[in-house]
Amino acid sequence: MVKKLIEKYGTPLYIYYEEVIEKRIKKVKEVFKNVNFFPTFAVKANNNPNLLRIIHKNGFGMDILGEGELYACKLAGIPGDKIVWNGNGKTTKQKEKMKEYGVKYVNIDSVEEFENLWKNDDEFTLFLRVNPDIDAKTHPYISTGLKNHKFGVSFDLAEKILKTGKIQGLHIHIGSQITTIEPFKEAIEKTLELAQKYNINKINIGGGWGIKYKKEENELNLEKYKKEIIPILTNFEMVINEIGRFIIAPAGILAIKVILVKETENKNFVVTESGMNHLIRPALYNAYHEIEVLNNQEDNITADVVGPLCESGDFLAKNRKIKKPNPGDILIVKNVGAYGYSMANNYNGTTRPVEILIKKDGKDLIIRKGEEISDLYKNVII
Ligand SMILES: Cc1ncc(COP(=O)(O)O)c(C=O)c1O
Repeated sequence: MVKKLIEKYGTPLYIYYEEVIEKRIKKVKEVFKNVNFFPTFAVKANNNPNLLRIIHKNGFGMDILGEGELYACKLAGIPGDKIVWNGNGKTTKQKEKMKEYGVKYVNIDSVEEFENLWKNDDEFTLFLRVNPDIDAKTHPYISTGLKNHKFGVSFDLAEKILKTGKIQGLHIHIGSQITTIEPFKEAIEKTLELAQKYNINKINIGGGWGIKYKKEENELNLEKYKKEIIPILTNFEMVINEIGRFIIAPAGILAIKVILVKETENKNFVVTESGMNHLIRPALYNAYHEIEVLNNQEDNITADVVGPLCESGDFLAKNRKIKKPNPGDILIVKNVGAYGYSMANNYNGTTRPVEILIKKDGKDLIIRKGEEISDLYKNVII
């Protein structure tokens, strides 16, 4: 199937599967079936409007950061009353755009933001992001709930804002790719005390559900989540979550071609056409993505799988044992549906790839064209 798509569309190629998206959504909904659940999808994980439309059709609203992600929601036809606006640097101009579209929910990140934008506002439903000072035990760059992180307000500062009576809900998001229940539980329990003290009956518990990037890893244990966390949430009149990665990461793969295999005295390098421009997670977080080589080789090699860009950080895998590839072979990088294309970039004057959707009936559709080099320079004035 992938080979046929590559013949049709070439490489590099982002491929998403509708069936997987729907399966993952079902899993999330099943966990929350006994609470007043308002699920949203974190658009930062993947902003392709065609995918957002599928997710929305399956009952999800959207969590967005700014005007760019609002635009994706507009293209997907998602109404404002199903949108939650997040961010630690909101501006008056953004607020105007959100208001114009009818965005309903906002998560306030600081006392300063409250003073600047929300103190006198009656149009949005205001949630306050609290920082519970809890270690999510994930990569430091995607950990967000410790007091030295830039997100949210301490419980002491929160009380100052809550005393104004303007806030209707509390929000927490302690990080991403979290694979144990305990940090979620601790953060929610801590926040619950504050909610009770101020009669707050809406909560947004953020996203962060971890997936299985390595075969030997486990993803978040949903049975345990159901047993240990859901009972704490049943008294809320509204429970929002903002899950991105768990839904969309396993629904996407990246197919790339091997340019050459470079053998040196120290190391082997599999040089491919894509690197940190098309998937930056390994370079940024040392993240692991499974890589499958599509050939019939019996021999294995241990190699760094690297891109063609001018950075030593331009790698997709380090010291990876894989089937020995030949130039022209295809590699499949797994679990790239989240923070893959949405973090892709044009470094070294490279273009971003085509995105394809495989519908449930097996049909394939282009959902975003590949960029042309001229696209990169279209705003240049000479
Ligand atoms: C505020 C907020 N909500 C939701 C998410 C989505 O997280 P995830 O993709 O891990 O579910 C993020 C991502 O870090 C976030 O910052």
